Amino acid sequence: MLEDKKIAIIGSGTMGQAIVGGLLRSGIPAARLKSTARTRSTSEKISEQFGIECSIHNDEVVRWADITILCVKPKDVEKVCIDLKKKEALVHNPLLISIAAGISTGFIENIVGSDTPVLRAMPNTPCFIGKGMTVVSKGANATDEHVEIARAIFSPLGRFIELEEKHMDTVTGLSASGPAFIYVIIEALADGGVMRGLPRNVATELVAQMTLGAAAMVLATGKHPAALKDDVTTPAGCTIAGILALEDGRIRSVLARGVETAAKVAAELGK
Ligand SMILES: NC(=O)c1ccc[n+]([C@@H]2O[C@H](COP(=O)([O-])OP(=O)(O)OC[C@H]3O[C@@H](n4cnc5c(N)ncnc54)[C@H](OP(=O)(O)O)[C@@H]3O)[C@@H](O)[C@H]2O)c1
Repeated sequence: MLEDKKIAIIGSGTMGQAIVGGLLRSGIPAARLKSTARTRSTSEKISEQFGIECSIHNDEVVRWADITILCVKPKDVEKVCIDLKKKEALVHNPLLISIAAGISTGFIENIVGSDTPVLRAMPNTPCFIGKGMTVVSKGANATDEHVEIARAIFSPLGRFIELEEKHMDTVTGLSASGPAFIYVIIEALADGGVMRGLPRNVATELVAQMTLGAAAMVLATGKHPAALKDDVTTPAGCTIAGILALEDGRIRSVLARGVETAAKVAAELGK
């Protein structure tokens, strides 16, 4: 799908870098990628680190590209889009993909005009190592072919699915914020190992690999997590004893409410 397409990444922070790194690893030549940053210090650092052209001139880079991925903070999206429109950088109607939390495709379409196809994507930081999760939804002028282009961009960075835009704030609170939730859980479980005498690095390695394995079991078997849990819990055994202790701490509602809260805050970011 990407053939000779040129890709612009606007904003070269955590996610911009995760996407650039992932695209380069997937075989997109550096000559077909350009990025931008707000400051010269970031642009110089990115050019050196990734071997791509990184400038501070959004309009020039967008004019050059067939596909533009907006990776600036939600609060900067409006200003960046107004500037691109004013400088006529979008007259060739490139595919515009925004990864900004809480910013709807309609908000962007209202600024850039009805001819520019807009997709909203929500990736996460594990894209950096090819283990990401990206969800995409179509704006009013985007087609299935545009979704396939997004699939070609994000699939090498991990899993990819399309959903209706009404789900995107929930997706943000779940798979985009989620890595941070899991890091907290990994740290806390490792604390348990440390409390029992394991060195910190050993405890962390055990938890991280266990987490990887458990997640892979869910994806590979397609079984309900409760069924997989039952496979581990011998009657009157140690695992069910541990689970009851977790349930006493209301672990399920705490985690579910964490997602709900993050999703509500995500929805407010664009307002
Ligand atoms: N972090 C996550 O886990 C995550 C996950 C999914 C989606 N997102 C979304 O991804 C977007 C970026 O988040 P982030 O965490 O990558 O932010 P970040 O690390 O703060 O990076 C923002 C980047 O945007 C650049 N920038 C700011 N204003 C600009 C402008 N006018 N023109 C060009 N570049 C500009 C900054 O340049 P300087 O470095 O020069 O200041 C910086 O490189 C957000 O909208 C967020 O909602 C984030």
